[in-house]
Amino acid sequence: MKIVTVENYEEMSALAAKIIGQSVQSNPTATLGLATGSTVLGTYANLRQAYASGQLSFKDIRTINLDEYVGLGCDHEHSYAYYMLSNLFDHIDIDRANTFIPRGDATDLEAECQRYGDLLAKLPRDIQLLGIGSDGHIAFNEPGSPFDSRTRVVQLATSTIKDNSRLFSRIEDVPTRAITVGIADIMCAKKLLLLASGLNKAKAVKAMLQGAVDTCCPASILQTHTDVTVILDKQAASLL
Ligand code: F6R
Repeated sequence: MKIVTVENYEEMSALAAKIIGQSVQSNPTATLGLATGSTVLGTYANLRQAYASGQLSFKDIRTINLDEYVGLGCDHEHSYAYYMLSNLFDHIDIDRANTFIPRGDATDLEAECQRYGDLLAKLPRDIQLLGIGSDGHIAFNEPGSPFDSRTRVVQLATSTIKDNSRLFSRIEDVPTRAITVGIADIMCAKKLLLLASGLNKAKAVKAMLQGAVDTCCPASILQTHTDVTVILDKQAASLL
């Protein structure tokens, strides 16, 4: 595992975008596994910039996202589908037909999980971008999620609902369930790139990197993957 500690969020984001950019340049038909949330916003800003300045093209790139809130359609401002459009896809030359994200508003959620799981199997990811929750979750695999878990509907932990409520006007508006890819799905990606920034991630980062490989910290499974890069800012690395 390669652990890189940088000064701040800006350096973390620039380095992450550089690594993803290298994947795109070395394989213009690569499949990128993408995440949402605050941590990766700066990475997407750098990728938009790299496209705008002509350094990168996403014309034949495919993307597949980790998760989506149950109940939110793609036109809902808090859906992850909307997040991906406004923070990345609307600003680059990617073919929308090559971007995949679970349908949180599917009427048959079981069938949607099955469909998405089948899609993941058909689209091996060259690189998977990840954030980490303050409770150690990856995607929405909360503590206790089995390491062999696959795409499914999950209940969000109270701490995750609280963390994510900063983006909603009221905590009651935060969806309590999500469709998430499983831990086994994440581990299938050829390369993993996990980013963490800020003091509120320091405990989870320590458990991920220096704790036992245990489902009480889902991200600790990364210790067993053969190609992982973790980029931390100083605050996230402060307990190591
Ligand atoms: C989102 C996702 C989550 C986030 C995590 C950190 O697609 O998979 O695991 O990466 O909740 O969120 P932020 O970056 O908002 O702190």
